[in-house]
Amino acid sequence: MKTTLSVIKADIGSIGGHLKPSERLIDRVREFLNDNQDGMVNDLYIGHTGDDIAILFSHQQGVGSDKIHKLAWDAFLAGTEIAKEQGLYGAGQDLLKDAFSGNVKGMGPAVAEMEFEERPNEPFLLFCADKTDPGAYNLPLYLGFADPMHNSGLMLSPSMSKGFKFTIMDVAHIEGDKTIELNAPEEIYDIAALLRDNERFVIESIHSRETGDIATSVSTTRLHNIAGKYTGKDDPVMLVRVQGAFPATGEVLSPFSIGHYVAGFMRGSHIGPLMPVVKNSSVSYFDGPPVVSCLAFCVHQGKLTTPADAFEHPYWDWVRSRVAEKATEIRAQGFFGAAMLPYSELEYGGIVAKMNKLEKKFTVKK
Ligand code: 13P
Ligand code: 13P
Ligand code: MG
Ligand code: MG
Repeated sequence: MKTTLSVIKADIGSIGGHLKPSERLIDRVREFLNDNQDGMVNDLYIGHTGDDIAILFSHQQGVGSDKIHKLAWDAFLAGTEIAKEQGLYGAGQDLLKDAFSGNVKGMGPAVAEMEFEERPNEPFLLFCADKTDPGAYNLPLYLGFADPMHNSGLMLSPSMSKGFKFTIMDVAHIEGDKTIELNAPEEIYDIAALLRDNERFVIESIHSRETGDIATSVSTTRLHNIAGKYTGKDDPVMLVRVQGAFPATGEVLSPFSIGHYVAGFMRGSHIGPLMPVVKNSSVSYFDGPPVVSCLAFCVHQGKLTTPADAFEHPYWDWVRSRVAEKATEIRAQGFFGAAMLPYSELEYGGIVAKMNKLEKKFTVKK
């Protein structure tokens, strides 16, 4: 049986700044979905990571279904009404267009989807990150799918010995999706050359070269490409199938122990380490640090199990402490150098106005 998984997430308002949505808001989104799904959804799950609400749909409408996208959009609109009623901060923040036009891609919400023939057992992972952007997944996906230091199955499992195909998007290109397909292991240096630039080149999907099956799908939205100005961070979601021809769950999780530095800390303008957190976590310190949650599910004939919270294990408490230290270290240098994003990536118009004003005051000595 063919199943489609669609995760659609948006920030539609949060309590006390950009920390977390209210219970009432989430309840309203859930209630709207239950009342309006009209048998088109096999199952769904709702949760939040920081101030972003993610809806995971299991259905049979295929990828890019206008019905599913509209259902999510309308649920976010219903939630936004509650956000306004409660005076939440940034009500409707990620709903950037006035009218739904067939697909939420390009309208503000982040989307990751995949359709596949269900295996007899179908384990997969849902990742949701806040205060960062889609390039945050470049390093863990590279290590989890192409490096035997993290993915021992590349050595041990015959079903992974051909490696994986990476589809990488140039997100700086805004007239349509510009992508390239590269194969690991043969083209690993080319893959690395692109992926080092997290802000421009982003993994969009990964496929098994053994079976051709989709393994990973990442949301690649860049909000400032849509709005033309800063409206919030791109806070990416990702689906990863695991086991069998794909990495084991623990191999996909392994690189998240690094707490690598990503863009998106405070005002989407600073660099901070990515902290693995439990489901429905908020953010705090310096509007961060950037966080990522991971829920493990199985889907069978369209029905989802309850999720296992992958970062709940005590091992990750130790990682979180280390990441907190890394966050404090980089914050010690405030706005200097590597602690902040380069001028080209700064998302606030204020700095552009300031630079324009200062430019006039510069003098050049011949
Ligand atoms: P089980 O033997 O518990 O299925 O584990 C297989 C494995 O090695 C996963 O890493
Ligand atoms: P969000 O994009 O998660 O709303 O965060 C905005 C921000 O930069 C807070 O400092
Ligand atoms: Mg927000
Ligand atoms: Mg957010």
